[in-house]
Amino acid sequence: MKILITGSNGLLGQKLVEFCLAQQVPFLATSLGANRNLMCPVKNYQTLDITDEKNLFLVLKRFAPTHIIHTAAITNVDDCEINAAQCDLVNRQSVQLLAKFCAQNSCHLQLLSTDFVFDGQAGPYKETDQPNPLSVYARSKQLAEQILQSEHNLKYSIVRTILVYGFAENLSRSNLILWAKTALQSKEPIQIVDDQFRAPTWASDLAWACLRICQLNEEGIFHICGPETLSIFQIVQRIADFYQLEMAHVSKVSSAMLQQAAPRPPRTGFVLDKAQKVLGYKPHTLEQTLNLLL
Ligand SMILES: NC(=O)c1ccc[n+]([C@@H]2O[C@H](COP(=O)([O-])OP(=O)(O)OC[C@H]3O[C@@H](n4cnc5c(N)ncnc54)[C@H](OP(=O)(O)O)[C@@H]3O)[C@@H](O)[C@H]2O)c1
Repeated sequence: MKILITGSNGLLGQKLVEFCLAQQVPFLATSLGANRNLMCPVKNYQTLDITDEKNLFLVLKRFAPTHIIHTAAITNVDDCEINAAQCDLVNRQSVQLLAKFCAQNSCHLQLLSTDFVFDGQAGPYKETDQPNPLSVYARSKQLAEQILQSEHNLKYSIVRTILVYGFAENLSRSNLILWAKTALQSKEPIQIVDDQFRAPTWASDLAWACLRICQLNEEGIFHICGPETLSIFQIVQRIADFYQLEMAHVSKVSSAMLQQAAPRPPRTGFVLDKAQKVLGYKPHTLEQTLNLLL
């Protein structure tokens, strides 16, 4: 097995590098910018813009991976709403290029996708449930999924996940848990929605599952998330309780009041039966990971 990781500077990308090193899996880490992952050896890193077709094919041919774990994406859903063309280029068109290479070279393509492919009216969702994306970001991911599903001779997996959190060096953006902990500690006033329900996912659990799918050569869709579905307000409350921080500066608001550019599904969450049965997936609880974050 030889894995090429895209988006290795991102939160999941960094955890994948950590697992590949620990399990001595040969890998090439790639990302748009210079290597910001302090753990990734220089010899294992290559700067790569996944929208640059010529260079992408050069790198892929030279490394000849057996598996690609494609985490690179524009992940800010409001940015995608505002710049739909860039979102389409990075999140959908790059997948077309990767699928073409993988089909021609017997390489397994794993795509990271999202709970946002669902409209949030009937969570928790199974892998067989029908997507109905509400935003530009969510549509770009659904279209990317469809590329994999319609490409002939392609070995693929689609890993949908939810609200990924954890700690890694030099991230380009924070995540809910780290942000909320810092905001609660600083006692600055914050507004938190109580009408969106998510199952927060510990990035290391997700990386473990991604790698496990590759090691088992499993194909198809997998739902991977944390074990509990909570409202965003409940998540922040649990963080405050765990670290013994005050909630006095936190106001409960509705999604409508926030007026974010991209619409969000109200209630997602996943049924994890398939992941548990096929992969032996056992996600950490929020409290277990808050302990680790200390
Ligand atoms: N985070 C979540 O809550 C969440 C939830 C559901 C699904 N997902 C999916 O899971 C995957 C991983 O998420 P994440 O949180 O690890 O993402 P992230 O931390 O935002 O990292 C994404 C990475 O993509 C890279 N990238 C962006 N444009 C690129 C390009 N043109 N060429 C090459 N690399 C590019 C960036 O690289 P540089 O840093 O080098 O610029 C960035 O590090 C994504 O596909 C996301 O859609 C995430």
